[in-house]
Amino acid sequence: MATGIQRVAIFGVRGSTSPSVSVTINSHKASGNFGTPITAALQRAGFDLTIITRTESKATFPSGIRVIRATYTVEELSKALTGQDAVICVVGPAGIKSQIAMIDGAEAAGVKRFIIDDFGWGPGIHGLPEFEGIQSQRRRAWEHAKARSEANPKFTYSGIATGNPIDWALKLFPRMGFDIKQCSAIIYDAGTERFTGTTLEGIGQAVVGVLQHPEETQNRVVKALSIITCQNELLEAFQKATAKEWDITRSSTKALLESGRSKLKAGDRGWILDLIIAQLFGEGSSRCVVVPSREESDAELLGIVEESPHSVVAKVLR
Ligand SMILES: NC(=O)c1ccc[n+]([C@@H]2O[C@H](COP(=O)([O-])OP(=O)(O)OC[C@H]3O[C@@H](n4cnc5c(N)ncnc54)[C@H](OP(=O)(O)O)[C@@H]3O)[C@@H](O)[C@H]2O)c1
Repeated sequence: MATGIQRVAIFGVRGSTSPSVSVTINSHKASGNFGTPITAALQRAGFDLTIITRTESKATFPSGIRVIRATYTVEELSKALTGQDAVICVVGPAGIKSQIAMIDGAEAAGVKRFIIDDFGWGPGIHGLPEFEGIQSQRRRAWEHAKARSEANPKFTYSGIATGNPIDWALKLFPRMGFDIKQCSAIIYDAGTERFTGTTLEGIGQAVVGVLQHPEETQNRVVKALSIITCQNELLEAFQKATAKEWDITRSSTKALLESGRSKLKAGDRGWILDLIIAQLFGEGSSRCVVVPSREESDAELLGIVEESPHSVVAKVLR
């Protein structure tokens, strides 16, 4: 490959219990984990892939991809990552604390590019205070990657801000406003709050795009997007695609904030979804806009297809 990046290791591919299920985009298996569509996109683009998984992981992976089980210490990881050109970290929130060891292991192994775990709103997010705990863990790892790249110019990093994983989230969480089975919608506030979304396919392409453009993407957080939209535009697209008037309930992000915060107080994990949705749709907050327009984003550089509310809805209904 002309960019010098060919051998790529990835942390955080959720495995399959059925070895016959291969990694594919838009399959049922792809839902719930970004490592899977990223792996599929990297395979299609012709990278030589290795999956790194925890020694204690119960995951099993499709045959045909090299798998290395490791304890996440710098020493073991530097051995596991030797020979790799790039490393992608897409572990779930519980694994983010291991990122410092992953970065140090990658640098010690001579890896040229480390893609840090984000796939959210990037370091500039002005999120709700309840998410500060997880955000500060991410920040620590990002600052560490930056410091290592400054100390060692052969080691570079990129982050990828993708905003809301829109087709995955709409399908998985009716509380995000669209109950596809019932053809019913909850519209929060006026339904006009705009947010950035990237489809699973776009998230996979963003990673491929970073590795295919290492110079333009080095030592910064790139801004990916498939669409900037709002609930009202999505509702119109759902009604058109299903040729039905949907039952519409009006609600408010204030109610979501109250419900999320009281669930948090009571130790109920449902608080996370309530507050994520409140953050996404809070009228006038612009909390979930990665970048105001496609032109100001890195979508073209990364080769991410531009989506409309109709094409996103078609993916969700597929
Ligand atoms: N923008 C959004 O709205 C949004 C939504 C969802 C996720 N995300 C972000 O996307 C990234 C990936 O999330 P995901 O949902 O794809 O992850 P996930 O499905 O929860 O987990 C992916 C993999 O991470 C590894 N992992 C889990 N716990 C770990 C631990 N304690 N230590 C080390 N590794 C661990 C596991 O791999 P092995 O078993 O193979 O080790 C697991 O299969 C995260 O940064 C997440 O915050 C963003």
